[in-house]
Amino acid sequence: PFGCHCQGWVRSFRPQKQNLFLHVNDGSSLKSLQVIAPAAMNDPLLGFGCAVEVRGILKKSPHSKQPVELEAEQIWVIGECNPVDFPFKIKERHSLEYIRQFLHLRCRTNAFSSLLRIRSEATAAVHSYFKNNGFLLVHTPTITSNDCEGAGELFQVEPPGTTFANEGSFFSVPVYLTVSGQLHLEVMSGAFPRVYTFGPTFRAENSQSRRHLAEFFMVEAEISFTESIEDLTKVWKSAFALTLLISWMELFHVRCPITYTEAIDILKRSSETFTFPTDWGCDLMTEHEKFLVKHCGNIPVFVTDYPHDLKPFYARDNQDHPKHTAAAVDLLVPGVGELSGGSLREERLDLLRSRLGECGLEDTYSWYLDLRRFGSVPHGGFGLGFERYLQCILGVDNIKDVIPFPRFSHSCLL
Ligand code: 4AD
Ligand code: MG
Repeated sequence: PFGCHCQGWVRSFRPQKQNLFLHVNDGSSLKSLQVIAPAAMNDPLLGFGCAVEVRGILKKSPHSKQPVELEAEQIWVIGECNPVDFPFKIKERHSLEYIRQFLHLRCRTNAFSSLLRIRSEATAAVHSYFKNNGFLLVHTPTITSNDCEGAGELFQVEPPGTTFANEGSFFSVPVYLTVSGQLHLEVMSGAFPRVYTFGPTFRAENSQSRRHLAEFFMVEAEISFTESIEDLTKVWKSAFALTLLISWMELFHVRCPITYTEAIDILKRSSETFTFPTDWGCDLMTEHEKFLVKHCGNIPVFVTDYPHDLKPFYARDNQDHPKHTAAAVDLLVPGVGELSGGSLREERLDLLRSRLGECGLEDTYSWYLDLRRFGSVPHGGFGLGFERYLQCILGVDNIKDVIPFPRFSHSCLL
């Protein structure tokens, strides 16, 4: 037994005739310390959710439930918590949906604090994978003048009161919150063999779905001197075999990849009725992606060689294919659908120039063409939605429950 002093939040509170029993949790783990105090120490402010400081003697516990317990000599209520107003109730198991209504308080529940701990560990695992595999971390900018994906899902950024006429605007050109750090990584691919970035990205997608956010975190990697989809997916697979996905990764070798053209055949031959068309040239929608994952045995699936017209200007043209496709790949997973997307990049100056010309972007991307003018090499990369990854490994239905502060259309609380 020795003198001890602890601070934390009361997770359970049982006043009995002779003694008070409290569980105090200091937030360092899910485990709480049992505190026993004489009934005389009861304070009307003591109760579930309040913050306390306890001084006493730490002793071996007579119960097998816990190794030690704290015999209190003094208890101070640092911050009271009115049980009527507090949205979480003692001994109740609240759903993720319920606690989501209280973004500023939900980290106090076991469910959400556990999620945040896993998110933090997974973040560290991402950085350690890339560090151990020769990747340079590049802090790509949040504010940018390019729309990497060309999908028109940009948030424009200006100080309040700006007229948006170019002369009056802060940067003299329209600027946006980044949708992807890829083009900046490609700049670095001209000098480093392997680069990655991991940060927030933004999309003004007017979607209320369970897998879309307006602000999400993306892990992106770019690899130089890569000439084939096979080489790219090798790195891709090992990067994602970070945590629990590892056992699935072994299955990749058996079932995958399938081409987009094969995927369309599978969809067309199936007896399922889809809302969206399944003709060659149409984009794969969530319903198609989920069907394909099921069809392949409920394991992750790489789908390769999408129609050239479906992919952004940077995707490498598969000139030798009978149908006009690009060397682009999506990774589809159970429950979520698209978890990650990537491609070989068009490294050939003439082809890239004509593609940009078709899109009317030759002037905007003259710096990007320079990358192909001076020491261009075959390269490719991918981006993984970190929240979708967490959804997938944890089986969480709604993406809003795996990010501390979700932002989506009509909602930016806090
Ligand atoms: O498929 P996307 O748009 O690919 C890119 O941005 C490439 N430039 C990446 C690269 O090659 N470096 O986005 C990549 C991934 C998607 O597969 C998806 O997991 C996630 O980002 N994602 C979203 N996650 C949550 N909410 C959204 N609104 C998302 N949009 C994309
Ligand atoms: Mg995509």
